[in-house]
This record gives sequence, C-alpha cells and structure tokens, in this order.
Amino acid sequence: MTKVKKSKVKHKQIGDPDFAKFSSVAEKMCMKPFPNLAKNDSSPHSDFIAEIADGLRSIEHMENYLELGVNHCLTFNVVAPYAKVAYAVDKHKHPEREIKASNAKWFFMTSQAFLNQTTEKFDLIFIDANHDASMVYKDIKGSMKVLTDIGIIVAHDTYPGNPWYADVQHCGSAYEAIWRIRKECPNYEVMTFPFYCGMTIIRKTSAKPLWMVLAMELRECEVQKKQESYN
Ligand SMILES: C[S@@+](CC[C@H](N)C(=O)[O-])C[C@H]1O[C@@H](n2cnc3c(N)ncnc32)[C@H](O)[C@@H]1O
Repeated sequence: MTKVKKSKVKHKQIGDPDFAKFSSVAEKMCMKPFPNLAKNDSSPHSDFIAEIADGLRSIEHMENYLELGVNHCLTFNVVAPYAKVAYAVDKHKHPEREIKASNAKWFFMTSQAFLNQTTEKFDLIFIDANHDASMVYKDIKGSMKVLTDIGIIVAHDTYPGNPWYADVQHCGSAYEAIWRIRKECPNYEVMTFPFYCGMTIIRKTSAKPLWMVLAMELRECEVQKKQESYN
C-alpha cells in the first residue's frame, strides 16, 4: 500500500491575523451599502433592486413586480412603488401587517405554490425565500416561466463572501443553484455581483430590446408603403 504523504499546506485557523483580515473584508463585502443610496428602513440590497425597477420603469417595462420571500417587507416596500402592481409572497403570515404599498397583492403561500398557480407575467422578480440550493433552483426555473421577454430576475444570497455565511441561518447553498442554472440555461445571461451577500441577475439572452422591435416594425411599414406606391 502506498503511503499518503502528510500535506504541508497550513489551513487558516480562526484567530490567525490572515483569517481576521479575510473575515473583515468578507463582512464589508456583504454589508456595505451604496453610500449615495442608503435610506432608512431599507437594506443596501433593497436600493439595488429599486435601481433596477427604476431603470425598467424608465423604458416602460415595470408593470408587475414579484418578490418571493418578503419577511419584514424592507425591500418590498421600497420597490413596490415603481411597479403598477406588486406581488408579495411569503410562507409566513406576519408580512401582511408590514406591507405599506397601496398597489400590493399579498399571497400567504410558498413560492412554489405561487409560481404554479399564477397566470401573470412579471417584469422584475426578486427571489429571496428558501435559500437551499434545490429550492432556489426551483424558484428560478419557475420564475423563468412567468418572466416577460425583457424582464429581470434577481436572486439574493448567491455570494456569501465567506464559508460561515453559507450556512442555513444566512445565505445557505443558494450559490450552488446559480452554478446549475449557468450550466443548464445557455439562453439566459447569468451574472453575480459579489456584494450584499451576492446579487445574481438573470435575463433572457434572446430578449429583443424594445427599440429593435419598434425599428423593425417601422421598417416593415416603410416597405409596405413603397410596395403600395408601386402597385
Ligand atoms: C431573507 S427573508 C426575505 C427578506 C426580504 N426579501 C427583504 O429583502 O427584506 C426570507 C423570507 O422567505 C420566507 N420563506 C422561506 N421559505 C419560503 C418559501 N418556500 N416560500 C415562501 N416564502 C418563504 C421566510 O418566511 C422569510 O420571510
């Protein structure tokens, strides 16, 4: 039997100066807000989603907002005003009392139950419910089915920043779902921002931008007009 040599690689220990440095950087990566956006009663990731909602609204693509897992509505109450209708889904009942937005529709059920029953399409979907990889994967796949062509999915907690935040109390194994989606869904752009515990943007690569659709329609009209003038 061959003898296995003992590894000389030293693993970092809690208490090592290197470890403390790594840990504090990871902490900052997760918690540091946009300095110019931080508002009371919201978290940095809420402002990040609100920026996307505002962008979509500016191109008239912000009809329906869906948030899976709303808890104290810190994000929901910030983002909902950008949409015409905002859908809040949670498996617990307490969020109902914390919803402030007048355009809100409340669903006391699991994210999967909601995605299976809805007949709506959504321009922006924020996935922040169960953080287990298999559940996040299902929430993303279900969300893809109800996303508008130009719509955007944002999944939270996909870059825990350190192994301790990848536990069930914090980000869980959500990051693994992103690896799987990236591998299995070549028709979607998948991009993870490595801050606020990880914000992953997912959108259809096949999405035709509105300006292109309008330009094509205009061109067709011109061709038709020319044809008519020849006849
Ligand atoms: C991290 S909190 C959401 C925070 C919120 N999105 C925000 O930004 O302030 C997670 C929430 O997801 C809910 N949740 C967990 N598993 C769920 C599931 N399978 N379906 C729906 N909600 C779920 C929990 O009840 C909890 O309120």
